[in-house]
Amino acid sequence: MIALESLSVLFNPGTPDERAAIKDLSISVPRGQWVSLIGSNGAGKTTLFNAIAGSVSPAAGRVIIDGLDRSRDAEYLRARFVGRVRQDPGGGTAPDMTVMDNLALASRKGARRLLPAKPRALKLLLKERLAELGMGLEERCDENVSRLSGGQRQALALLMAAFTKPAVLLLDEHTAALDPRNADIVMELTRRFVRGYGLTAMMVTHDMRRAAAEGDRLIMMHEGQIVADLSGQEKKGLSVEGLVRLFKEVRGHEYAEDRDLLS
Ligand SMILES: Nc1ncnc2c1ncn2[C@@H]1O[C@H](COP(=O)(O)OP(=O)(O)OP(=O)(O)O)[C@@H](O)[C@H]1O
Ligand SMILES: [Mg+2]
Repeated sequence: MIALESLSVLFNPGTPDERAAIKDLSISVPRGQWVSLIGSNGAGKTTLFNAIAGSVSPAAGRVIIDGLDRSRDAEYLRARFVGRVRQDPGGGTAPDMTVMDNLALASRKGARRLLPAKPRALKLLLKERLAELGMGLEERCDENVSRLSGGQRQALALLMAAFTKPAVLLLDEHTAALDPRNADIVMELTRRFVRGYGLTAMMVTHDMRRAAAEGDRLIMMHEGQIVADLSGQEKKGLSVEGLVRLFKEVRGHEYAEDRDLLS
């Protein structure tokens, strides 16, 4: 469960460049819910994730994770229960470390009690997890991650963020830099992890098809606020066309040719 209470984030406060990136935003995401998050460039999606992960400090408001106020916890502390995958396949992994060492590092976070304490048993389990990616990475445990393809690295980054069962998994356009085939593979793995582990997840995407198809709930942000919040049957019945219409209503005439949104 994650709840944001009256959250505000200000950049350059008190200067002529002051900018409110998040404005008095409140939302509660129950355990196991998967939220698709959309919004135009600069809407505040990444800033929202930064505030949840603790990489920016809110000017006001609280971040509650699994019932506890984490607003004052440092980013490295929150990393134990906040999993994160970004757009850049290089970002989530350490390129000069081996596949196994990357995974071992990730295994020190999250629900460690669920993992074996003995190194040999842990290694076996991590190898099994790698095999489940279906990319043959279990045969490449001792290779440096820099030798993997973009799709393989992003799959590994996703595995590293998800397998310790974080309280919340934040996916920020995590398939956007991949070719269509790898994007589909990583999305399928996302489904498997989020549903298989029962994770609470928030996924930013600019892809309206994915936003409509994936997840239990759809949230649209605009200028630092939530402007649409659909779940249940409303979300299930959402078509790409319906979503584009909603997007246009919110954003007005200044943006949004259909082809931009559908590209
Ligand atoms: N470090 C920063 N300093 C100043 N302004 C910032 C900083 N980071 C973000 N902003 C501003 O905050 C606003 C929200 O940015 P954010 O990156 O959260 O948008 P976004 O919704 O993730 O957009 P995109 O879809 O392009 O990734 C923007 O106006 C941006 O310019
Ligand atoms: Mg962003």
